[in-house]
Amino acid sequence: MYVSGLSLQNWKNFRKVDVKLRRRMFLAGPNASGKSNFLDVFRFLRDIVKAGGGLQQAVQDRGGLSKIRCLAARQEPDIEIEVHLSDTELSGAVPVWKYAIGIKQQTRGHRQPYLSFERIWYRGERILNRPDDSDRQDDLRLTQTHLEQISANEKFRAISNFFNSVSYLHLVPQLVRNPEAFSGSNIAGDPYGRNFLERVARTTEKTRRARLRKIEQALVKAVPQLKHLTDIKDEAGIPHLEAVYEHWRPRGAKQREDQFSDGTLRLIAFFWSLMESDNLLLMEEPELSLNAAIVKLLPSIIHRFQKKKTRQVILSTHSAELLDDKGIDGSEVLVLTPAVEGTEIKVASDIEEVRLLLEGGFTIAEAVLPRTEPKAMQQGFLFDV
Ligand SMILES: Nc1ncnc2c1ncn2[C@@H]1O[C@H](COP(=O)(O)OP(=O)(O)OP(=O)(O)O)[C@@H](O)[C@H]1O
Ligand SMILES: [Mg+2]
Repeated sequence: MYVSGLSLQNWKNFRKVDVKLRRRMFLAGPNASGKSNFLDVFRFLRDIVKAGGGLQQAVQDRGGLSKIRCLAARQEPDIEIEVHLSDTELSGAVPVWKYAIGIKQQTRGHRQPYLSFERIWYRGERILNRPDDSDRQDDLRLTQTHLEQISANEKFRAISNFFNSVSYLHLVPQLVRNPEAFSGSNIAGDPYGRNFLERVARTTEKTRRARLRKIEQALVKAVPQLKHLTDIKDEAGIPHLEAVYEHWRPRGAKQREDQFSDGTLRLIAFFWSLMESDNLLLMEEPELSLNAAIVKLLPSIIHRFQKKKTRQVILSTHSAELLDDKGIDGSEVLVLTPAVEGTEIKVASDIEEVRLLLEGGFTIAEAVLPRTEPKAMQQGFLFDV
């Protein structure tokens, strides 16, 4: 299954969103236009269903409802999220699942967040519609979704399982190299790669070896001096990645991940995450630290990895090289345009001007990126240095 549609109301810097999604989706927009906020919707849903999570925790982790609700919200104060899950990209197909919630804040008492509604449709038929009679008798029930309750989600556990498997990658190479240097608690899902090596080590040996071999094959093209990527454990039992780094000495030298370059580590994590994820994988700016020639290949690599499994990849990017791939369709790109009343978000091929440029042979980079440049920047920096 994949997320085929998303509607939002008052989610962070979006007043209203209503978009169709493909199995590969690129988010393009200037800094602070809301690309990460858009991805956060899926992390929020995962936080609701994950073990030890729930609606209250998910809201609290984001600093409370006032931080989530769009600052430009006026008459419609509640936050609404509607997600469509489909198993085919055929147009006109009814989504297998639709899940929708509205979230409000109690006006009295503990001012807890609560559900103004929770609705579920299975193949077009509504199978849950809250508040129901029980909710009306005991409104504390509305502080939890049915999705997060094992006792209540039996008929639609497939949705909970789907959200639970959402993964998010925003690898910080320094955290992979020196996890012990950064104090603080672990973040669920390990988005920044602090426990990346442990995740690798926890995979069964057969899968791990197969994945590392594939990564090695891909990696030698980007980093030609690097050979034989393997995983090892040191004397203390701590997992490491090791590779032979060729140089003027005939046998090369072994290097561990703490000596790998930023780009090498980010590429390894990129490939690993693509292979690891079964459902929805969210990626933040996969182009960081990579040579332009490699960045150009990322869209086709993602496409190749998607063929075998049913994974969906949604990624944010600022990269012209990445979006220059002629294989990217206008329906695979979301364009974010900040405005006074919140950011507008549109599928690129639904913007008439962009569609005409794409039909005329322009790439996404050529047709879309000029629209995402802040106006002031077109005149250069406005202060003297
Ligand atoms: N509740 C809210 N209402 C309105 N705006 C909000 C809200 N919460 C966050 N924002 C705004 O969202 C912006 C940050 O968006 P986000 O981090 O998603 O941008 P981005 O497109 O990922 O940028 P970058 O490319 O720099 O990573 C900030 O300007 C912040 O003020
Ligand atoms: Mg961002």
